[in-house]
This record gives sequence, structure tokens and C-alpha cells, in this order.
Amino acid sequence: MLIEFTCNGKPVAVEAPPDISLLTLLRDYMGLTGSKEGCSVGECGACAVIMDGRLVNSCLVLAPQAGGSEVITIEGVHGEGADGGINDMQENFITYGAVQCGICIPGMVMAGEALLLHSPNPTRAEIRAALAGNLCRCTGYQQIVDAIEATAVGRQTGK
Ligand code: FES
Ligand code: FES
Repeated sequence: MLIEFTCNGKPVAVEAPPDISLLTLLRDYMGLTGSKEGCSVGECGACAVIMDGRLVNSCLVLAPQAGGSEVITIEGVHGEGADGGINDMQENFITYGAVQCGICIPGMVMAGEALLLHSPNPTRAEIRAALAGNLCRCTGYQQIVDAIEATAVGRQTGK
């Protein structure tokens, strides 16, 4: 079937079977491999994307459900420069040492971006709650919370 939606700001139309997940559609049919497949059952958050403004685990969304929606993947999160580059959130993940093996990081960044969309000035408790669906086996989470908090402060203060 033809699945039409907006992906990272551009209209897309993808011919794909109706019984695959949005994660498979993104990775295997669109070449967007930034979203990771950790568990495939909604437990780890590595596959998280923003769909119509909400963080969703793309492994739990049937591809046809994306029809007509606006999806933002980690490929759609980048800086303003000519080559895109990394944005302030991604820069802070590096600055605060929030990345080790990296498998959880696309989902963590998407969870951080989804939080700041709706809550631009979150408390640390709110940041932790927003990451409740994202597992990291490496960092202990502290540095990830630090990075998201610094991004929120930076966006609020323009620094
Ligand atoms: S791969 Fe989707 S939640 Fe783990
Ligand atoms: S950095 Fe390895 S799982 Fe999070």
C-alpha cells in the first residue's frame, strides 16, 4: 500500500506492506536508520520518534497509522548550518558526557526534544519522568538529564 505522510518536514509517499511497523518503514523502506531497534516491544525507547507532536515508540506504531501524520525522526533534528550539523541538544549530550555506546541516544534526544516542545522549562523530576520510557544501559542517566536541562536553560536564556 502507499503510505503518505510528512517526514522531517517533507511530504513522502512510500510503497510498503501494511503489516510492518513505522520503525521498519523508516529504517528499511526509507533508509532512515537513525532510529534504533532495541527491543521491538515498546520497552526501550531506542526507536522513539515524534509523531504529531507526541513521543511514540515507532516499533509499536503500524506503518499505515503514520498516514497523514507529521513524523520527526532523529534525522530531522539538526542545527541551522548549511550542512545541518548537530543542534544544541546534541551538542549538550556531547558536552555533558551523556553518550557512551550510543544505541539509546537517538531515542533520548527525541524524548528530550518532545519534552521541550511542551514544557520548555522542565524541572529535573520532569526530565526524569519524560525519560521513563527510555532505557540506557551505560550512562546512569545523570548526564542525560544534565544535557537536557542545559538545553532547556540555553533555549530559555538564548545562550
Ligand atoms: S525498539 Fe521500540 S521501544 Fe524498544
Ligand atoms: S549510551 Fe549505551 S545504552 Fe545509552
